[in-house]
Amino acid sequence: MIENIRDISSYFNVRKKVRKAYEQVIDESPRDLNGLSEKYSFNPKDKINVHGCFSNLYSVEKGKVGKVIYKERNGSFFHGMVDSLEKSFDVTMYEFNKLKLASFLDVPVSETYEVILAKNVLNEELRCMLVMRDLGRVTLGEYYREDYRGDYKLAISSWEDAKSKLRRFLAYEPIDLNESNAIWVPEDKQTYLIDSAFWDFKGLPKYWYDANNFDNNI
Ligand SMILES: Nc1ncnc2c1ncn2[C@@H]1O[C@H](COP(=O)(O)OP(=O)(O)O)[C@@H](O)[C@H]1O
Ligand SMILES: [Mg+2]
Repeated sequence: MIENIRDISSYFNVRKKVRKAYEQVIDESPRDLNGLSEKYSFNPKDKINVHGCFSNLYSVEKGKVGKVIYKERNGSFFHGMVDSLEKSFDVTMYEFNKLKLASFLDVPVSETYEVILAKNVLNEELRCMLVMRDLGRVTLGEYYREDYRGDYKLAISSWEDAKSKLRRFLAYEPIDLNESNAIWVPEDKQTYLIDSAFWDFKGLPKYWYDANNFDNNI
């Protein structure tokens, strides 16, 4: 019984912590497209990622990659193409804010710098781009298969640690907390989590279309 009361109060404490950090994230984030400047361009042929079926990654400058999301999800389902700049803003900010939130909560995630506008040089269309630290090309998926195994045990234990830190704040287990969404950075001796698309935080709305209005009813 006492255990249950403890569980409930810790559940509410976690929710409170998440919402407080989220308010801070939202406070610092661009509110609309007017808050963004055009900084890079990209050619879809130059994508650097082998994994990921909702977005493409580009190397934008030394040490930085940019993520352009081109498919929209409804929960875990494919919902349609990101066919407008407004939609691109919504889905990109949703992921950006959640990565920021996770880092405020001390979860090791890829460091996120900003969301900017980037032009697709093939069709001249503008899209939002999430700019992050370039963590290298070796996700844990490759790490399993290829000859990168110097720090194998450390990479995996660091990954387990990162996942359990994240899970504490989530309402549900994400369907893709897998090896293609984690990157081991040998010089940091740390595995970072990437791809916040399916992270549903306790006390926060589930999808971007709710998240958009969330700050009105915090
Ligand atoms: N910060 C990063 N540094 C280097 N590569 C990255 C980074 N973030 C993502 N990637 C690469 O891009 C792929 C797709 O990114 P991800 O965020 O998982 O997109 P998706 O939503 O399409 O799954 C990853 O599997 C990884 O290979
Ligand atoms: Mg992914």
